[in-house]
Amino acid sequence: MILKYNYYFYQAVLDQPTCKKIIDLGLKEIEKRKLTEGSALGMTNDGGEYNDKKKFRLEDKKISDLPEKDIKNIVTRDSDVAFLNETWLYKLVYPYIKRANIDAGWNFDIDFMEGLQFTSYKNNGFYGWHTDGGSDKSYAYKKDGPDTVDKNMIGKVRKISMTINLSDPNEYEGGDLKIDTKDLTNTSVHTLNQIRPQGSLVVFPSYLFHQVTPVTKGTRYSLVAWTIGAPFK
Ligand SMILES: [Fe+2]
Repeated sequence: MILKYNYYFYQAVLDQPTCKKIIDLGLKEIEKRKLTEGSALGMTNDGGEYNDKKKFRLEDKKISDLPEKDIKNIVTRDSDVAFLNETWLYKLVYPYIKRANIDAGWNFDIDFMEGLQFTSYKNNGFYGWHTDGGSDKSYAYKKDGPDTVDKNMIGKVRKISMTINLSDPNEYEGGDLKIDTKDLTNTSVHTLNQIRPQGSLVVFPSYLFHQVTPVTKGTRYSLVAWTIGAPFK
């Protein structure tokens, strides 16, 4: 799909106390997961194992440079995650997605938001190239599929993703969000330095490949949202 805007960002829209409140809440939930589940590591969305050593990391390559057979081998991740199901958080972030969907001219049909995911990328934490999901009917959430889904998710696919950077840019290094737009321009990998200011967010179509490069110092905290709707037709 060729889009005028492959991503849309809003800088420093969440203030510092709000970012801190979300970080505190997220860290508490991560600790809870560690206690109850033994680990809070995030899975890859293809059902792959996290931090699979057999898979390889290609932070500096473009998806379009890779042979198709290699793409499935690059979805790898090392980060702690927790889901935050707080009404005030949904109310806080959804308007930005709604606005970006209109302002960017996408006008995708979206009608539900999945659980918000808080992520902690510690030193060496990363998330390799991946998409947040497929776009046609074959990728729609199923009632009896492998994922536990809310009834409002059945038959739908991820359409629009959002990432909020919750960290002060002075508190971590590395951890860049990159998007491969595979568009008609020569440089298709975009490093989203625009979201480095604390409380900044970017909204983008879920089918685009993206990654978070390894954090080389400190910790990067983010909040991710996925909005869903009927498959593209
Ligand atoms: Fe993602």
